[in-house]
Amino acid sequence: MNKRRGRFVVLEGPDKCGKSTQAGLLVRLLRRLGISFLHTREPGGTRLAEAIRGVLLDCKFPVDPLAELFLYEASRAQHTREKILPALQRGTWVLCERYSLATLAYQGYARRLPLPMVRTLDRIATGGLRPDLTVVLDIPESEFAGRDRSRKLDRLEREPRRFRRLVREGYRRLARKEPRCVLLDGSQGLAQVHQEIARLVERLRP
Ligand SMILES: Nc1ncnc2c1ncn2[C@@H]1O[C@H](COP(=O)(O)OP(=O)(O)O)[C@@H](O)[C@H]1O
Ligand SMILES: [Mg+2]
Repeated sequence: MNKRRGRFVVLEGPDKCGKSTQAGLLVRLLRRLGISFLHTREPGGTRLAEAIRGVLLDCKFPVDPLAELFLYEASRAQHTREKILPALQRGTWVLCERYSLATLAYQGYARRLPLPMVRTLDRIATGGLRPDLTVVLDIPESEFAGRDRSRKLDRLEREPRRFRRLVREGYRRLARKEPRCVLLDGSQGLAQVHQEIARLVERLRP
């Protein structure tokens, strides 16, 4: 990988843990600090990857776990090469909702695909790019149902509680052992969570 000047920050955690909410607050902070950044998300972030997102989240397709893994990684390969790497190389920070850790938690821990295989495919898709900081927002499974009740659930959000518990447990384990990864209590108030994220992000400034 040639020279990267921007920082790569990823927000992670189970569905409805507060990623988009915190990304919005972080966007305001980065603007205030005068840092140029790209705010993006996975799956998605480019035209092709957003189309793959549509397929992945659509309830009308039954998806085999291995096919699901390849779709996430196809989306990631496109997003990384088309958007993320070029941004980092020109000195723009990248703030991304979900990246590699989500695939390890969902396809590895929750779908039970072998973790070494998931890691290998992911390394191919990312070309070895790893975030400078991954923040995992941890919420108990019981908070899922009470949050944002009005929104229609996508295919993964319709998985049973057992699946969501495996996702959460996966994230908690991963956060303990992955480098540059921090687990935060996402069930605190918005402002408190934001303050903790802001402190971590400010440390990344050159
Ligand atoms: N710290 C929090 N405490 C309580 N509710 C929250 C908190 N953060 C987010 N929410 C609410 O939970 C719902 C899901 O948040 P969202 O940011 O969309 O999660 P995600 O992007 O991780 O799916 C929204 O209705 C949001 O207002
Ligand atoms: Mg979101």
